[in-house]
Amino acid sequence: RLLIIDFGSQVTQLIARRLRELNVYCEIHPYQNVTMEFVREMAPRAVILSGGPDSVTREGSPRAPQEIFDYGVPILGICYGQQVMMHQLGGKVESGHGTAEFGRAFVTPKAKLDILAGWFTDGDDQVWMSHGDHVSEIAPGFKVFGTSPNAPFAITADPSRHFYAVQFHPEVHHTPKGAKLYENFVKLAGFSGDWTMGAYREQMITKIREQVGDKKVICGLSGGVDSSVAAILIHEAIGDQLTCVFVDHGLLRKNEATEVVEMFRDNYNIRLIHADESELFLGELDGQSDPETKRKIIGKLFIDVFQKHADTIDGAEFLAQGTLYPDVIESVSFSGGPSVTIKSHHNVGGLPEKMGLKLVEPLRELFKDEVRALGRELGLPTSFIGRHPFPGPGLAIRCPGEITREKLEILREADAIYIDQIRKHGLYDDIWQAFVAILPVRTVGVMGDGRTYDFACALRAVTSVDGMTADYYPFSHEFLGETATRIINEVKGINRCTYDITSKPPGTIEWE
Ligand code: XMP
Repeated sequence: RLLIIDFGSQVTQLIARRLRELNVYCEIHPYQNVTMEFVREMAPRAVILSGGPDSVTREGSPRAPQEIFDYGVPILGICYGQQVMMHQLGGKVESGHGTAEFGRAFVTPKAKLDILAGWFTDGDDQVWMSHGDHVSEIAPGFKVFGTSPNAPFAITADPSRHFYAVQFHPEVHHTPKGAKLYENFVKLAGFSGDWTMGAYREQMITKIREQVGDKKVICGLSGGVDSSVAAILIHEAIGDQLTCVFVDHGLLRKNEATEVVEMFRDNYNIRLIHADESELFLGELDGQSDPETKRKIIGKLFIDVFQKHADTIDGAEFLAQGTLYPDVIESVSFSGGPSVTIKSHHNVGGLPEKMGLKLVEPLRELFKDEVRALGRELGLPTSFIGRHPFPGPGLAIRCPGEITREKLEILREADAIYIDQIRKHGLYDDIWQAFVAILPVRTVGVMGDGRTYDFACALRAVTSVDGMTADYYPFSHEFLGETATRIINEVKGINRCTYDITSKPPGTIEWE
């Protein structure tokens, strides 16, 4: 097994993910729990030190147990993990001005290194950086194997001890050769594994049966891929002990409610309650403009509504949710990890302490594309599996500022045209997620001979593999022009259209 010591990076789970793709068994443990006693008991064959938000120059900041460097197994340090390694092994780290790097960078090779097999075949390689501090002096025994314009120590190693330390994040999709680096690392550590999606499905079915017994489960169905896969998996495990509740919070896209209800009633033999609660949600959201407040209100109401329906189902003791790894990691405070909360995710943030229902979350360990693979494993149609993700709080987080019915109506129309354009141009499957956000600002325009004073909107489309990192989609100018013209001409209430070209990080995919 492999031990990942978590220093609180937003993308630590992705390391586990990359290793799982290599069928390697690994465990993530917060640095506070990792003592040398713990390490000896676990007996890992290799160790990875994750990134993290702290600065090793700060007194009292996280460290690895010092003796781990004498334990005799390969160690890979990433970003903060690199700095911890350098610092603990006698090098120097500084919080410098002007040496921070966020986003794309290119690494130039300096010497050959085993974990870089397959790199630099066409010159420099792209990597994803996200650091404020940097190493200013490497530890004794280490050599430099790669540099980037802002990180002279982008790749350092002491190959004789199998110690590797990189400044960038090889686990994210935007480091294209990152997976290769992990493959090389686990190979030299002597790993072979047998983790598969088929095995996961069987494991989860057994686990759900054990957890639920003969009790009843209610499942919140959103019509998205996650909750649908969760519902179908649970249905496979316990059949009619499951009842799905589809909550229409009034924040869905055009025609979405009808489509979801029809699909589940026509195609699956799953019990389904259609709860139209839009009055309740929109009423509570009235006048609210703070993103976290909106998320918390929606999260809380969801649970209330579930409970209301759970009460009508005799013996319902469990609530099933399609919570994914990214939902968990970005709100990680509840699991005791060291990450900073970026957003309170809908599935997690609104959970009251005592909700009276126990949770069933069969997708908690999976990333989006793994959920799709599981969906395929469960026989779901490809067109359904390929649907773009849609967030639990729905259009609320695409409507910065106060939410009004008027704005939602405008947003629905604009979004429908945008998605129609994307489908017509055959681009839907190349894009991870595309949507319109309505901006809380009115601008002046001229249409015909008249003055207009209407809302502006932003189009968003990103490529991503897991939602953890993302880049904007490079539409042609013709496409953007044609789409903007259609939206402005066809949607009453919008007179200006912009395209959002922010990557993640530093942005997020949704606007709130
Ligand atoms: P961000 O905006 O955090 O989004 O970059 C990453 C992915 O997560 C989706 N998202 C959510 N999904 N509940 C969900 O089920 C939520 O509260 C939520 N917030 C964001 C987002 O659409 C993107 O795919």
